[in-house]
Amino acid sequence: MKILRTIAETRAARHALDERCRVGFVPTMGALHEGHLSLVRAAKEQCDIVAASIFVNPTQFGPAEDFNKYPRTFEHDCELLEKEGVDLVFAPAPQEMYPKEPVTWVTVESLSDKLCGRSRPGHFRGVTTVVSKLFHIVEPDVAFFGQKDAAQLAIIRRMTKDLNFPVDIVGCPIVREADGLAMSSRNTYLSPEERKRALALYHCLLEMKKQFGNGEADCAKLIAAGKEVILQESSIRLDYLEIVDADTLDSLQSVTGNALAAVAAFAGNTRLIDNAFLVSA
Ligand code: PAJ
Repeated sequence: MKILRTIAETRAARHALDERCRVGFVPTMGALHEGHLSLVRAAKEQCDIVAASIFVNPTQFGPAEDFNKYPRTFEHDCELLEKEGVDLVFAPAPQEMYPKEPVTWVTVESLSDKLCGRSRPGHFRGVTTVVSKLFHIVEPDVAFFGQKDAAQLAIIRRMTKDLNFPVDIVGCPIVREADGLAMSSRNTYLSPEERKRALALYHCLLEMKKQFGNGEADCAKLIAAGKEVILQESSIRLDYLEIVDADTLDSLQSVTGNALAAVAAFAGNTRLIDNAFLVSA
């Protein structure tokens, strides 16, 4: 497995590949877990060459957010990627990606202000800018993103279409812990007590799915039922609970085929997100 620190080295490695190779790409911020590895496995299955990136991207963190304390486990991440048979890892320093304070941004308007974009202004602009840069550097044929970050996936799909990136975007299902908590690099911040209470996010989505299964299709009522589950865990502070169209991220009045229930909440100081399609595939 080649570990590449510079843009020039990465471009050279990419251009040295046989033109017929289908290159799969898994962008990450490291602190890898089974969720990330599921994307790598999907890439291995569908592509000839797998590239991953590890870069804690400063432009997607707000000034009061956890950029400095974001977990960094580079050596271990590389061991995991090597075991999965990854071919290339692009792991630049912040200076390599942003030698100057950036003034050029890629923004997917409207979608970027919804869900997490509302509570984290500028977050998705940072994501779409860095993913555009990574696409230009790695030049993948296919890129893999998790459904865990449902808004991010919708925004990247739209950006890829609007800007004609020649990249297929593949969305991969959420990987969960045995008890249902969605895996996240930020779960390491949780105290044992917060870890238990964090399950309220998943339980709230299950309750909404259950009530929809019982015939309730009114989104306001489903949201009220989900909120009740969160409110029972007094230590969990809800950020948002919405039912949206998974492509446009617009709020829905009543459940349609593409309806996604999406939740964000704080367990202590840790912000967690989760989501579920209400209509099973
Ligand atoms: P990061 O949070 O490291 O996630 C990298 C990829 O792993 C994302 O596509 C995310 O949706 C996916 N992922 C995380 N947890 C998952 C889970 N439990 N199940 C399935 N997939 C999961 O998302 C980012 O990094 C960044 O915003 C990035 C796209 C790399 C741009 O900086």
